[in-house]
Amino acid sequence: MNNFNKIASTALALGLTLASGNAQARDFRLGLITPPSHLWTQAAEGFGEELAEASAGEHSVSVFPSQQLGNEAQMVQQLQAGSLDMAFLTIAEISNRIPDFGALYAPYLVNDVAHAARLLRSDVAGELLELMPAQIGLVGVGYGMSGMRQILSRDPIASPQDLEGQRLRITPFEPIRDFYLAAGTAPTPLPLPDVYDALANGQVDAIDMDFEAIEALKFYDQAEHLLISNHMMFPMVGVVSGRVWRELSGEDRELIITTMNAHLDGVIDSVLEREPAQEAALRALDLTITEADEAFFREAIAQWEATWNQRAPALETLRQAAAVLEVE
Ligand code: BEZ
Repeated sequence: MNNFNKIASTALALGLTLASGNAQARDFRLGLITPPSHLWTQAAEGFGEELAEASAGEHSVSVFPSQQLGNEAQMVQQLQAGSLDMAFLTIAEISNRIPDFGALYAPYLVNDVAHAARLLRSDVAGELLELMPAQIGLVGVGYGMSGMRQILSRDPIASPQDLEGQRLRITPFEPIRDFYLAAGTAPTPLPLPDVYDALANGQVDAIDMDFEAIEALKFYDQAEHLLISNHMMFPMVGVVSGRVWRELSGEDRELIITTMNAHLDGVIDSVLEREPAQEAALRALDLTITEADEAFFREAIAQWEATWNQRAPALETLRQAAAVLEVE
């Protein structure tokens, strides 16, 4: 059974142990933190349109981008309460609540976006989603992703020592905080919508970010040194509130799984297609570019692993899967 079918059958079978509800017309509210122009938001809109079409207009989806409904921690609470129906979330907030998800952020677990895509489409990654209903009351429908993580800074970063003391913006979650603490920086958690101003007003010296956001949100206007390190992948997950899921008919659940997964998977395809051009566009700008690999972060990685090998037992299995999927 492939990842998608497995997730679908698990989510359907779970039904979160209660009988499925009767079919009922709904306008689902879907929240996310990315701005309207971002790939994830466009995928959410596309999912809404397709769900409306496939349900012959019975269901619709209202998309709330740019943190309009709150940050991811707040959205997870709303999903748990059933006051928010759906969300496309970074794995960040999920890993704060289910540490095994932190394994997906292991530094250099994958080499590039193609390797990340293969891992996120694997059974091993799909099995992690099965932890969500029981542990946090959300149904994890499937994965999307963003590009590999890089570091954009005001001052050049040519050696591990240059990272020391840098106030470096991170997405608010523990595995990345631990990585940058181990690298000697002062990690500064900030959600995506706050990053531009934080760079502009000097609250941070550097940011952890992907090519797409650096380019689309013009972070390079505020910091002109780019360390191309590809140090982590950045998965996204499409979720439905467990409370809402219980109210849906089996037919509606299947429709949501199929349509949402098609758009999440489309996000992965788009990242694969677009990342080379985004990197080329940034390389063509007037930025200082330096490259780094696993050896650059060797000490930080050793410290990170000392903590996360224990906190995220799934890491071992994910590493084995990643090794198998390294070349295809
Ligand atoms: C970030 O927090 O860096 C981020 C969040 C969502 C999409 C892309 C980047």
